[in-house]
Amino acid sequence: MARAGHDVVLAGRRAEPLGKAAAAIAERTGAAVTTVRADLAADCPPAAVSADVLVLNAGGPPPGRILTVDDDGWQRAFDLLLRGPLRLARATLPAMAARGFGRVVFVTSTAVRQPQPDLAASTVLRAAVTSAAKLLSREYADRGITVNCVAPGPTATGRRRDVLTARAERAGIPYEEIDAADVSTVPAGRAGRPEEIGEVIAFLASAAASYVNGTVLTVDGGRTETP
Ligand SMILES: NC(=O)c1ccc[n+]([C@@H]2O[C@H](COP(=O)([O-])OP(=O)(O)OC[C@H]3O[C@@H](n4cnc5c(N)ncnc54)[C@H](OP(=O)(O)O)[C@@H]3O)[C@@H](O)[C@H]2O)c1
Repeated sequence: MARAGHDVVLAGRRAEPLGKAAAAIAERTGAAVTTVRADLAADCPPAAVSADVLVLNAGGPPPGRILTVDDDGWQRAFDLLLRGPLRLARATLPAMAARGFGRVVFVTSTAVRQPQPDLAASTVLRAAVTSAAKLLSREYADRGITVNCVAPGPTATGRRRDVLTARAERAGIPYEEIDAADVSTVPAGRAGRPEEIGEVIAFLASAAASYVNGTVLTVDGGRTETP
């Protein structure tokens, strides 16, 4: 987004990684990058209200199969994945509509196309996010706003490491073996780079994507088996 010429506001709960990320992005791109500490499961940073582009992206829920996620786990996942993003959308979309331009991108997961048994909360709630994005896209399309989802496959981030570490511990085998097995399911033969997700988000936020609305774009090196 910064490379595409946007000023960027980064949100997260921890000050230190936020500051480091902001400094690195500003140095690489020359963009104005500010940070706001917020728990997006519970808060709505005021900076979001004046944004022309809203990228809804925070962590995912911990691994767990469909009957092992307990009530608290479902509640936490619901707050993070659905309630928090919808709160931000509520605060932001009417102002975008008044200005006649807006871009909203929900970062979800390829689990919406290919369920992942050990990421049950993500699989279930991302389906709900996809529906919410579709409803928003139709409601605001005539006011210059698009709402889309980007669904990443395996991407080399802290979360991928955490998910694979949990899987390795459960199976009692080394991390490297689990990593190789995961990568072997990707036709591209590797995990994605975070910037490969960012480039697609930047495209959806650009004028070039003005007629792309209410869709889900998988970014997964070809792993999802359905078209
Ligand atoms: N990596 C993958 O392979 C993969 C695959 C499919 C889907 N996804 C999805 O893509 C999204 C991004 O994943 P990622 O791999 O970049 O995750 P990540 O490595 O866990 O990073 C998550 C980021 O979100 C922030 N965050 C987490 N909870 C937050 C909260 N409650 N409020 C504000 N910020 C919060 C974290 O900072 P703080 O901890 O400081 O708040 C961190 O900067 C997630 O929704 C994930 O489920 C990832």
